[in-house]
Formats: sequence, structure tokens, C-alpha cells
Amino acid sequence: MGLLDKCRQFTRAREIMAAGVYPYFHPIEHNDASEVVIEGRRLVMVGSNNYLGLTQHPRVKEAAVRAVEKYGSGCTGSRFLNGTLDLHVELEDRLSRFMEREAAVTFSTGFQVNLGVISTLVGKDDVVFCDRENHASIFDGCRLAFGKLRKYRHNDMQDLERQLASVPRDQGKLIVTDGVFSMRGDVCDLPSIVDLAREFDASVMVDDAHGIGVLGEHGRGTAEHFGLEDRVDLVMGTFSKSLASLGGFIAGREDVIHYIKHHARALIFSAAITPASAASALAALTILEEEPDRRRRLWRNAEKMKRGLSALGYDTDDSRSVIVPVQVGEVMDTFGFWKLLFDEGVFTNPVIPPAVPEGECLIRTSYMATHTDRELDMVLEVFGRLRPALEAIEAKDAEAGASRK
Ligand SMILES: Cc1ncc(COP(=O)(O)O)c(C=O)c1O
Repeated sequence: MGLLDKCRQFTRAREIMAAGVYPYFHPIEHNDASEVVIEGRRLVMVGSNNYLGLTQHPRVKEAAVRAVEKYGSGCTGSRFLNGTLDLHVELEDRLSRFMEREAAVTFSTGFQVNLGVISTLVGKDDVVFCDRENHASIFDGCRLAFGKLRKYRHNDMQDLERQLASVPRDQGKLIVTDGVFSMRGDVCDLPSIVDLAREFDASVMVDDAHGIGVLGEHGRGTAEHFGLEDRVDLVMGTFSKSLASLGGFIAGREDVIHYIKHHARALIFSAAITPASAASALAALTILEEEPDRRRRLWRNAEKMKRGLSALGYDTDDSRSVIVPVQVGEVMDTFGFWKLLFDEGVFTNPVIPPAVPEGECLIRTSYMATHTDRELDMVLEVFGRLRPALEAIEAKDAEAGASRK
């Protein structure tokens, strides 16, 4: 078989397109953050990670424009060599102060942070322990690392303990977890993780892509939420969510960040984030710090939706964040339900394996500080109207389950 034959034989996505329920790559023609225009129709956006709604903030946009005027459109080189701007240094300085860490370094994306940091720190004699529902970039970072990967069952602390105990004491160990799990919106059991880390002499890294700007009194994320910042060694964050830009960072002890800066290939061999991206992340960080009320509005909106969806009979699982999933079940049913929502003017994200286990597909909704009550009420009204469609799916699944028994 020729190398490229698998591409011709890959028909799954085309079948879903032919069925008229293909949910991917729909171009957005206009974007107001909480509402978008797609195929000429206006939709309420409840499928974005723009938690603080800052992508459209005049100060953020203005900062990007000014940065382009001052530095140009790109850095055309790696941070290591010709790509470091004073803007990057200022951003890293501000991030380390905000996160109350000794140092921070930025990468071109959050994905690259996980690739670069994990593969750099987990050497051939080390072991990395990874929650099964961690983000794909964490798994890819683990795969790139020379050390061994041990996956533990989702948020299952007994499994983590068993696995830690099975590794010789003197081996280097890193536990990596999402702070807020990106698909279901549940939160890691950080108190138990840091206790186990202490018991087994492991370091802890939290990917707080969905926690920063959302959790904690100051928006510093999951560790702040639990009051455990001094027990977490490294916090990873991305600019592609609350910070309304593109890029990512890792914050921690100065010597660790120094080591990463001189060893992480994903940093050294990749161009620096653009001036516009750095400047907009910096402006968004300023607003995040100056306007804590945004976080309150974000939570108010998410709580309203959790209550509203539950009252309509939807199963919102164990959401502890501003990501609110709605359980569906099988893949095609999930695409079908996604399309009904889309046609009614509600943009959500369907989540299928490997992002969730087989048979546990869901519709992921997520909220912004800037959603208005009118928008959220419209979303609830649509979910209410479509409830019989999901009930029909549930009845079909129950029948199929019964006939399998
Ligand atoms: C938990 C988590 N980690 C890392 C990333 C990657 O971040 P970025 O979009 O900046 O590459 C994401 C984004 O999807 C994420 O959800």
C-alpha cells in the first residue's frame, strides 16, 4: 500500500459532510466575540474560550495595532536568536509577577509549551504521570520525552498513588494535569495530587489553560483556587483563552525557567510570537488584573447556564468551571444534535473520542463575561425547544442498551 493511500481511503469525514452534520472548519465571517456570523447567519457563540470577552476590547485591539506599527508584522526568528523583543521580556516579567512566580517564559502557542517543557524536563531515567483526560499537547509532550509515560485514570487518586508507588523512589517524577479539564469542565483533585507528590517526591505541573483568568480570587487559576500555589512547581498558561491572543507560557522557579529557555527545542527552534500577539496578551493581562468584576460576570453567566440547562433536564456532568458540557452519547447523535443547535443559531462544540471516552460524546458549551442575558436566554430557549430531540436520542440509546443485555 502506498503511503498516501490511507488519505484516499479516509471517508469518515466525507460521510459526515454528506449527511449534512459536519461541524468542523466553518468559516466565521464576522466576530463580535459573543456573537458571530457564519454562512450569512448570526449565531450566539457558546463554543469559544474567550472567557473574559477581551478579543474585541478596544484597548487590546489598539495595543496590537500599535505593536505592528512599532515592530512590524512578525519577529522572523526564534526568541533564542533574533526574535526577542522588549515586549516579550515585559510580558514575561508581568506574567511572573501576576502568577507570583520567580520567572516565566513565553512560547508561540500553548501546545508548544507542553511539547517543549515536558520533553525537556522528563529525561530518559524519569517518569511522567499523566491524567488520561489531559490535553492532547500534554500527551504529545510526554511522547517526545525520553522518559516513561504512565497514564492514570481520570482524576483517580488511588490509581495515581498505585502508579507512583510502583516506581523506584530515586527516579525523577513529574505529575502533569490539566487544572480545569478542557472538555468536561471538571477540576483536577489538586489537594490530593500535591499530597501524593510530597509523599513520593514528585514535581507537579498544572496546565491551566482554562483556569487562568477564571479560577482563584485574582484569576491565577486552579492552584490559587485551592490555596496551593506553593505546592505546584510549574504552571502552564495559554494566551488563546482568557488572554485573548495567541501564544503560551510556563511559570515557575527561576533556575527551572532558565533551564527550559536553554533546552526546549519547541522554543529555540520556532519563531517568537508576533508583536501583535505579545502586545494584545499584555493588554488583556492588564485588564484581567484591573477588572476583577469581569470574572464575577463570567461566573454569573456560567452559573445561570448550568442552572438553566439542568432545569431543562440536561445532564451537565461534573462541571466546576465556566465550561458546561451537555451529555449526548454516540458520535453521530452528537453531530446531529450539534447541527440542530447550529441551525437554531447557537454555536457549540461537539466533543467525540479521543477527547472523551467512547459512548460519552458531549456538546461543550462555554461562557464569556460579555454574554448578555438576552443572548443566554436565547440559548436556553433553543436548548429547551430541542430537548425532545435529545430525549429521543436517549430513548434510542436506552433501547439499544437493553437489547444488548
Ligand atoms: C488544556 C489545554 N492545554 C493546552 C492547549 C493548547 O493551547 P494553544 O491553543 O495556545 O496552543 C489547550 C488549547 O486547546 C488546552 O485546552
